[in-house]
Parts: sequence; structure tokens; C-alpha cells
Amino acid sequence: MKTILLIHGPNLNRLGDREPEIYGRTTLPEIETMMTARGRECRLAVRTFQSNHEGAIIDFIQGEQAAASGIIINPGALAHYAYALRDCLTAVACPVIEVHISNVHKREAWRRTSILAEVCTGVIGGLGVDGYLLALEYFREK
Ligand code: DQA
Repeated sequence: MKTILLIHGPNLNRLGDREPEIYGRTTLPEIETMMTARGRECRLAVRTFQSNHEGAIIDFIQGEQAAASGIIINPGALAHYAYALRDCLTAVACPVIEVHISNVHKREAWRRTSILAEVCTGVIGGLGVDGYLLALEYFREK
């Protein structure tokens, strides 16, 4: 079975009660359960990880990437400035999909730039938690 890494960055552990008018009411454990269950239906093993620390995310990716067929990452605000994470993602062999729950282009100007997008295979934004399922669908087709 292929392994897909589902990674969340800073503040996404607070999904559900963090600015629900922007991010909705779905919690991170609910997203992880949804993705693990959908992964099982698609014969994909989904391994989940969340950290508020860029270095911890890099450690996780470095440790897991050799066995991974894909990465789905919502980097949170790391998307906008985290060059060490960008270097890390550049060095992985598998496709990487960046997901944002909100449409970052409709919000503050500083959110419009993702320094990670350039090194990702694709980017999904503004579709709420459905964006994660669409990213998983991409890996099912592989
Ligand atoms: C986010 C968008 C980011 O700008 C923000 O910092 C987040 C969440 C999203 O899922 O819409 O933490 O990645």
C-alpha cells in the first residue's frame, strides 16, 4: 500500500475553534480521521503529523519521505516565509500538494504569496476541507 503524508503546520491544531468563520468548524482530528478513512478506501495509508514548529515538520519529512508516495501539506503561515521548509520539500522525490482551507488570495496581501507553491506539484485553496479529499484523489490516480 502506498503511504501519503498528511502534514499540518502552526495553529492548525486549533482548527474548529480558531476563526471558524474563515476555517470552519471541522477539527484537525476530524480531518485526519476523514483522510485516513478515505485513504483506506483508496488503498492509501495516510500518516498524519502536526507541529507548530518548522524544524519538527522538516524532521518528520526527512524521516518519512523515503517511504512516502506523496505529501499533502497545509503549512499554515509557513507557506508565506519558511525557506528551510521550502528547501526540505525541494529535496523530496514524491509529489507534494499544498492545501489551504481558506482562499488566501481573497485575504490580506501577505497571504497571497506562497514561497512553497513553486516547489510543489500542485496547490489547492479555498475549498474548505474538501481540498484535502481532492488532493488525496490526485494520489489515487497515480
Ligand atoms: C491557511 C492559510 C494561512 O495563510 C494561515 O496562516 C493558516 C491557514 C489555510 O488553511 O487557509 O494558518 O493555511
